[in-house]
Amino acid sequence: MAATALEPVTAARERSYEELEAIFTGVDAPFALVDLDAMWSNAREMLDRAAGTPIRVASKSVRSRSLLTAILDHAPGFRGLMTFTLPESLWLHGHGFEDLLLAYPTAHRGALAELGRLESERRPIVMVDSTEHLDYIEAAAPQPAGPIRVCIELDIGWWPLGGRLKIGAKRSPLRSPEEARRLAGEIAARPGFELAAIMGYEAHIAGLGDRPLGKRVQEPLIRLMKRLSAAEIAERRADVVAAVREITPVEIVNGGGTGSIHTTQREEVVTEVTAGSGFFAPTLFDRYADFTLTPAAMFAMPVVRRPSGGVATLLGGGYHASGAAGRDRLPQPHLPRGLRLDPLEGAGEVQTPVIGAAAASLRVGDRVYLRHAKAGELCERFQSLYLLSGDRIVDEVPTYRGEGRCEL
Ligand SMILES: Cc1ncc(COP(=O)(O)O)c(C=O)c1O
Repeated sequence: MAATALEPVTAARERSYEELEAIFTGVDAPFALVDLDAMWSNAREMLDRAAGTPIRVASKSVRSRSLLTAILDHAPGFRGLMTFTLPESLWLHGHGFEDLLLAYPTAHRGALAELGRLESERRPIVMVDSTEHLDYIEAAAPQPAGPIRVCIELDIGWWPLGGRLKIGAKRSPLRSPEEARRLAGEIAARPGFELAAIMGYEAHIAGLGDRPLGKRVQEPLIRLMKRLSAAEIAERRADVVAAVREITPVEIVNGGGTGSIHTTQREEVVTEVTAGSGFFAPTLFDRYADFTLTPAAMFAMPVVRRPSGGVATLLGGGYHASGAAGRDRLPQPHLPRGLRLDPLEGAGEVQTPVIGAAAASLRVGDRVYLRHAKAGELCERFQSLYLLSGDRIVDEVPTYRGEGRCEL
């Protein structure tokens, strides 16, 4: 990537339609882009909120090796990657990425066998939450070249009313210091393993906007839930880490996501926070009360027909985001301003009609720039990303998909 593409800029503002059109005159849509000026300003915003706590970069929210390298080179505050599959972790390791923490348990026997054969001090850390995981890893990698480094995942959902209400993602069965210590003891007793980290991801805080689309009445409840849950997590996480450290001097204590950097980093016991989505700033991250990011990733689709004066139809664009299906998971027309999806058709596999004031002035061959609801999933739809800085395209880099990868 050109050196100029990596330089931080002093201010990011949202680009106009005319500006983007001037830059992309000679490029046929569909294409995807990342505005580096916006991305580096988002990076700075996240570093500010981290207040010195290192940020591990969530690879699933970027899914471009070139951009991951650029981010890690950008500032010392970005340290290591949180990966999402073991084949991906091994692939990245083979490309020289060293500090890798796989955030989700794996059942990939072939990749575990390969991990076992890896001659490396800094082999990727894999996630476990039970002896079932340890047994599975032992069966797939019976005589590893060195100990398999593991991370214990802690459930940090909020369970008020004596557990009658359970708020948070269904991830790990481990909640109490005693449960964590028991698993840490089991790991210490097995010679093929080394306990390297403890992780707890507060999805119900970091991944939940304070102003969710169409749910105004819930807003005060969400803020209250976040505040009470963060206090409970801080106490429990500290107790868990103390209990585990009675067994092993585990160094890495990871927590948080883009939406909770500023609260998670306040916990003394946390040695690093994770963030990824904030670089691209997809639409779900427009809905947080404590911070503002600048839209950085977009995709452009061509207008291919005009069924009537007030409707312009784009080719494709139905790139829904994962999660419970709802309006907030749909891509949103971003530029030109004054466009929206047709509620009867949504975003389609091959056709996406857009309506609204700006639709009448669109002609066949014009482009509409849309934003995805989530960050890295966009990269599964495109082989490359155009990188912008100032008034020009400074580079075009492959996505994971562009490198022939297909993770999830
Ligand atoms: C374990 C874990 N940590 C952190 C994150 C936050 O990632 P991001 O900042 O990309 O939203 C996620 C997202 O799902 C996650 O699963």
